[in-house]
Amino acid sequence: MVDKAKKNNNIDTSNPEEEVLLTSLRAGNWDDFFGQENVKESLQIVIKAAKKRKEAIEHILLYGPPGLGKTTLSHLIAREMGANIRITSGPAIERAGDLASILTNLEKGDILFIDEIHRLNKVVEETLYPAMEDYCLDIIIGKGPSARTLRLELPQFTIIGATTRIGLLSAPLRDRFGVIHRLQFYMPKELEIIIKKAAEKLQVNIDQDSVEEIARRARGTPRIALKLLKRVRDFVQVKGAGVISTNLIHKALKMLEIDHKGLDNSDTRFLKAIIEMHSGGPVGVETLASSLSEDIGTIEEVVEPYLMQIGYVKRTPRGRVATKAAYDHLGIVYLEKNENSAQQKLL
Ligand SMILES: Nc1ncnc2c1ncn2[C@@H]1O[C@H](COP(=O)(O)OP(=O)(O)O)[C@@H](O)[C@H]1O
Ligand SMILES: [Mg+2]
Repeated sequence: MVDKAKKNNNIDTSNPEEEVLLTSLRAGNWDDFFGQENVKESLQIVIKAAKKRKEAIEHILLYGPPGLGKTTLSHLIAREMGANIRITSGPAIERAGDLASILTNLEKGDILFIDEIHRLNKVVEETLYPAMEDYCLDIIIGKGPSARTLRLELPQFTIIGATTRIGLLSAPLRDRFGVIHRLQFYMPKELEIIIKKAAEKLQVNIDQDSVEEIARRARGTPRIALKLLKRVRDFVQVKGAGVISTNLIHKALKMLEIDHKGLDNSDTRFLKAIIEMHSGGPVGVETLASSLSEDIGTIEEVVEPYLMQIGYVKRTPRGRVATKAAYDHLGIVYLEKNENSAQQKLL
């Protein structure tokens, strides 16, 4: 099901070439990282304080929908601390032994970045607790009655965990992070700055209208904005058009299966499920999840947040309701009675 979610999700960058490009556009210092002011400020304070005390920074958890800058921020933190960063991910650490070998190779002040930290398995997760709390590792040697536990001291290090699915993190794991931040969708104005900077780096000519057009359609997400910019650049190069125009942007959007509002496949499937299969709602998220054969967490933490932010979906105690704006968007006639009946069901 996870794979399916991935396939349906344009936000995800599974194409390695694209990943390289996005990495090359990754902000190299704080000034290149736009927006998320509160998060930035708070992180900078944590970093300054840790530097003053000459200690490793507290463990940091960054969460929020894909493409908003969690990985980028982690690199910026490491850079600011002058620390080495080791990169791994929840599914890559299969056994406690894998974790032990990563942790015992860390040096004082190192940062271990664990992407998709919600996908750590239970045993690994439990091994991580004492490591995060007391910088030590309990290893079991031998089997059966002769087994014994060996406690290894670890250097002071910092874990930065990133996740799109905070709801899947167990409370004990979450509680071991001293600093927890949620990244928010970006405003079009912020995306415009990001797009302009990237265009400079890529040496593409782009006018203000086109910048705004991309910003409006990027689903509040820098990664999508950059992907769009790159597609458009490809068109420009192939067609020899020279300058980016809104016409080319529309073609690129089509290729990426992003509609005029910046919504992708999973967004429209979700809206259609509420409207066409469940007469506009209210419908419980469990029912929606099974209608879509999608898992509930992906809906709640990846698909819904943006749709709620733009006012297409409402969460009510009785379930999800599609708003008139969502009907209009899909070109489906909205009957006043829809709202009444939804409200009646609510009472
Ligand atoms: N605030 C930002 N300013 C500039 N570029 C950003 C910002 N946030 C993300 N990006 C760019 O968007 C892309 C995706 O960011 P990334 O850190 O990989 O997101 P996440 O890890 O949350 O999925 C990267 O190329 C990154 O440079
Ligand atoms: Mg990432």
